[in-house]
Formats: sequence, C-alpha cells, structure tokens
Amino acid sequence: MSAMLVFYPDIKLVHISAAMSSGTLFALRALALMAGMRWPRLAAVRYLSYTIDTVLLTAAMMLLTLLPSALFANGWLWTKLAFLVAYVGLGMAAFRRGRNARARAVLVTAAALCFLQIYGIARTHHPLGWLLWLDG
Ligand code: HEM
Repeated sequence: MSAMLVFYPDIKLVHISAAMSSGTLFALRALALMAGMRWPRLAAVRYLSYTIDTVLLTAAMMLLTLLPSALFANGWLWTKLAFLVAYVGLGMAAFRRGRNARARAVLVTAAALCFLQIYGIARTHHPLGWLLWLDG
C-alpha cells in the first residue's frame, strides 16, 4: 500500500468531478447541436472537453495505481473501460457533420446510455453495473 493513499479522497473527488463535468458538457453540446446551434463545434469548446477528459483519465490512472488490485478482480474496471471506448466512439460519431437528425439522436442516446452504465459500474464495482438490479 502506497503512502500516496492519503491523497485517495482528493484524487477520487477530482475524478468524479471531471467525470460529471464531462458528461454534462457532452449532454449540453449534443442537445445544442440537435437544436441547430453552432457553438458546440467551436474550437474553445472542443479544447475544454479534451482538457476535462485528460483530467478525468489522469485521475483514473492515479486511482488505479493507488488501489489494491484485489478491488479490480471481478473485471469491473475493464468493462468500464470498454463502455468508455463505446461512449467516446458513439459521441464522436454523433458529432460528425452531415448526419441526419434521427441518426444523430440515436447515437447521442446510445452514448448517454453508455455513460450511465459507466457510472453504474463505478458505483457497484461490478461489470453488470445498473443491470445488477434486474438480478434482484
Ligand atoms: C465517463 C467516464 C467515467 C465516469 C463517469 C466515472 C465515474 C466514477 C465514479 C462515480 C467513481 C466513484 C465510485 C464510488 O466510489 O462510488 C469512480 C471511481 C473510479 N474510477 Fe471512474 N469514471 C469514469 C472513467 C474511468 C476510467 C476511464 C477509469 C480507468 C481507466 C476509471 C477508474 C476508476 C477507479 C480506479 C475508481 C476508484 C474506485 C473506488 O475508489 O472504489 N474511471 N469513477
């Protein structure tokens, strides 16, 4: 166990704050884009989003090195990462130019569901995340 563990609560707070900012900004940009607004594509907005995601991932890596590996034994973190890749990919696809409105809405919804599942997996420390509820 590392001495860095004293910083665990702070790093976790940074990670969660960045995660919530990332999801909120994505939702706002997606809704604005679907409403025909143009600011979601501004360079400043994109850089803000890259910055938040870099903070998010950096804090995630720090948590990963800090915590005992037994915490990840059931594979929840790898499932979370897989959903993260899907979230980013669907989000990028949703923002592509020239999409029709319906396809964009489907992609945004799919990305949002991935985000919710990431959150569920993080909270439950289980690969099924929110789906655990279906299990009773
Ligand atoms: C959209 C992306 C993400 C969201 C919404 C998110 C959300 C969260 C939340 C809410 C927690 C706190 C869980 C709790 O203790 O109740 C958490 C913890 C954690 N996350 Fe993330 N996360 C994201 C991305 C990542 C990524 C990419 C990684 C790893 C590469 C990661 C690794 C971790 C680790 C190691 C913890 C600590 C678990 C614990 O302290 O019990 N997260 N995340």
